Amino acid sequence: MKSLVVSGIQPSGTIHIGNYLGMIKQAVDLQDSGGYSCLYFIVDLHSLTSKYDPKKKPGDIIGIATDLLAAGIDPEKSPLFIQSHVLEHANLAWIFNTITSMGQLERMVEYKEKIASGQTPNAGLFDYPVLMAADILLYKGQKVPVGEDQRQHLELARDIARSFNKRFGETFPEPGGVYTKAPRVMSLTDPDKKMSKSMPAGCLYLSDSPKKIKQKIGAAVTDSQKKIGYDPENRPGISNLINIYAGFSGSAPESVAKQFADASYKDFKTAASDLVAEKLKGIQERREKFGRNKKEVIRILEEGANAVRPIAQKTLAEVKEKIGLI
Ligand code: TYM
Repeated sequence: MKSLVVSGIQPSGTIHIGNYLGMIKQAVDLQDSGGYSCLYFIVDLHSLTSKYDPKKKPGDIIGIATDLLAAGIDPEKSPLFIQSHVLEHANLAWIFNTITSMGQLERMVEYKEKIASGQTPNAGLFDYPVLMAADILLYKGQKVPVGEDQRQHLELARDIARSFNKRFGETFPEPGGVYTKAPRVMSLTDPDKKMSKSMPAGCLYLSDSPKKIKQKIGAAVTDSQKKIGYDPENRPGISNLINIYAGFSGSAPESVAKQFADASYKDFKTAASDLVAEKLKGIQERREKFGRNKKEVIRILEEGANAVRPIAQKTLAEVKEKIGLI
């Protein structure tokens, strides 16, 4: 039987190349390799944990689905659906809450970072990683394409699987992350911080025009050295651009650095802008096409939920029986 790949993305505004290189591209590559069964979802329930405008949410949900389809998620191969359309996600999360300690959640770095950046600590934000574990284990997912920032959340999903199996009998696999060549894309304006929706200035969006891409990469913070070199610790700016180039070209960062060893920063930035613009062009053209057909996108999402619901129901029934509910 093929290994099961699952992953999710939040509908919270425009997506950037960090989301693309960290997760989406990997999700598409795993799907296209033919070696896995994949299913992907839009985590609308997770997105409620951050401040949002209810009037904008439906557009964000359809928008992210359109982005995923444009980026190459093929609903014929991989069901694509909305998390809240499969009620079992939240139900399993509740059960997992009862086998997760406060201490395990208090250690979550992403939670601490969000609080430190001024976000109101609602209970959902604290519980976010438990719902994520439920998303994965509901389908007995084995491989999870995600960015580096989700590593700790995946460890928790493994811990939850292990505790459940130990207490109630072997039920869940221990899922592992699948990380890309660019698992942590940094901000273009502040390369010590990760590219993030909360810092729009440092983001390169999937929808940016070739002109914008050239401007943003041209103005990206690098360093005062003359020669291009890959050293993420000491030279985060130029190394980030090398990682971006590597992510889009499929080469290893070290070989990109070698390829451009004699180029000026300016020439390398031009080559990087051209590559990114060329790769995003196809996605943007397909986005236009899907964007004109909202009904079709909704149909795909409904069909996706209908396809996975029986798997979710079967797992939840098994879990309820094992934990002693009738
Ligand atoms: P979200 O929407 O915040 O992020 C979506 C994906 O983008 C990756 N990512 C990055 N990768 C590299 N560099 C960056 N700068 C960067 N910024 C974001 C994230 O790692 C993520 O893979 N918690 C998940 C959503 C989720 C989920 C799941 C994922 C909920 N349930 C179950 C997998 C399985 C998240 O961070 O979404």
